[in-house]
Amino acid sequence: MIYNSTGQRQGKPMAKTLLCAQTLEITGNPMREGWQDTCRHDPAGAVLLEGGKIAALGDAQGLVAKHPEAERIDLGEALLLPGFIDAHAHYAQTGIIASWGKRLIDWLNGYTFPEELKFGDPVYAAEVAARYFDLTLSNGTTTVCSYGTVHPESVHAYFTEAQRRGLRALCGKTCMDRNAPEGLRDDAQRAFDESAALLARWHGVDRLSYVITPRFSPTSTRAQLEALGTLYTTFPDCLMQTHLSEQTDEVAWVAELFPEAQDYLDTYERAGLLGPTGLFGHAIYLTDRERDRLAEVGAALVHCPTSNTFIGSGLFDMGGLAGTHRIGLATDTGGGSSFSMLRTMAAAYEVAQLGGRALHPSELLWLATRGSAEALHLGDQIGTLAIGMEADLVALDLASTPAIAQRTARAEDIWEAIFPTLMMGDDRAIAGVWVAGARVV
Ligand code: GUN
Ligand code: ZN
Repeated sequence: MIYNSTGQRQGKPMAKTLLCAQTLEITGNPMREGWQDTCRHDPAGAVLLEGGKIAALGDAQGLVAKHPEAERIDLGEALLLPGFIDAHAHYAQTGIIASWGKRLIDWLNGYTFPEELKFGDPVYAAEVAARYFDLTLSNGTTTVCSYGTVHPESVHAYFTEAQRRGLRALCGKTCMDRNAPEGLRDDAQRAFDESAALLARWHGVDRLSYVITPRFSPTSTRAQLEALGTLYTTFPDCLMQTHLSEQTDEVAWVAELFPEAQDYLDTYERAGLLGPTGLFGHAIYLTDRERDRLAEVGAALVHCPTSNTFIGSGLFDMGGLAGTHRIGLATDTGGGSSFSMLRTMAAAYEVAQLGGRALHPSELLWLATRGSAEALHLGDQIGTLAIGMEADLVALDLASTPAIAQRTARAEDIWEAIFPTLMMGDDRAIAGVWVAGARVV
């Protein structure tokens, strides 16, 4: 069943729908291969949706002639892209986004933990999950990989809402058994048992995937990390998500808590939590050994630029890592200051500039779509405009505000037309969103 962003059920999607718009196919990784060899722009393109998938794409004239039976939707000058993919978020922090004045550990204790305590209440969790997906969909994000809270109820609420809307979505129970308040702590056995039960209930159901989720080493004992490592080894097709080296005091704290470990990454590796399906949020203060090991294993780093500036964490080394590491892009809501992947791309651009690397618009778009999809090991299902991919799409209005429109009007090529929206755009630029072929925004 398909619902729109306010939860209203929409009519059944037509058997075939033809979306006519500008299209941009990114067929490879522009960060490694250059945009000239990886991007194909069609100013008068079209995408045929059928059975929740992309059935064809090409020039509009040809596809209209070939599929006269399809319902035709003319999106004018809008740019049709794969829906954005947010590879790291905390949906339960929706209510405390933009909370003032604290750095990571104080921010967790002062704002995050008190809010997360509320998610033992399934009614509250359901209300926030619905609000969260309204916000992400209206920002053009069609897949989120989120942390829940320690409460299984929070994961049930997230998956129930995602399933109701037909979304591809990922989530896990956030495990913590120390350095967190009573009410947000489980223990090693409970973390294992509750994660295993949630995995059995949701993993692979419809478009949902369970993700094994130790919050980060400071809030887990060795025993808990090891229990989750055992679970991870038992279910090798499950992803594992956690945080790594976000702030300097956090890194120093981990060294105190785990004197036997070589470094922060080693606290995970010793517990069996390092593998190619690992997602490591932030990864700012990496040692050379950690960088090499992450590349060797093929684990993904998830860049969360609005969070890194908002909580005052530091600068992710995109220039130094993009050539060698699997990288996804994410809001990290509510440490991140926006639900919008457009705002997130703008921040990624600015952070990379501060590190001496100017990211091309194709690289920003790749990070927000296919890069994140590949980080989540979903690159063969979402994140690309290509035949056979799931029909999760966003249409961007490239002149959504007067400020953007006056800049776009001077554009001499497609990249110059797109870049102002990447830098200055927000939910007003979202002209349409499709989930599994049905329009939801
Ligand atoms: N490190 C551990 N937990 C969190 C969290 O919820 N947000 C961020 N930004 N960093 C974390
Ligand atoms: Zn996070």
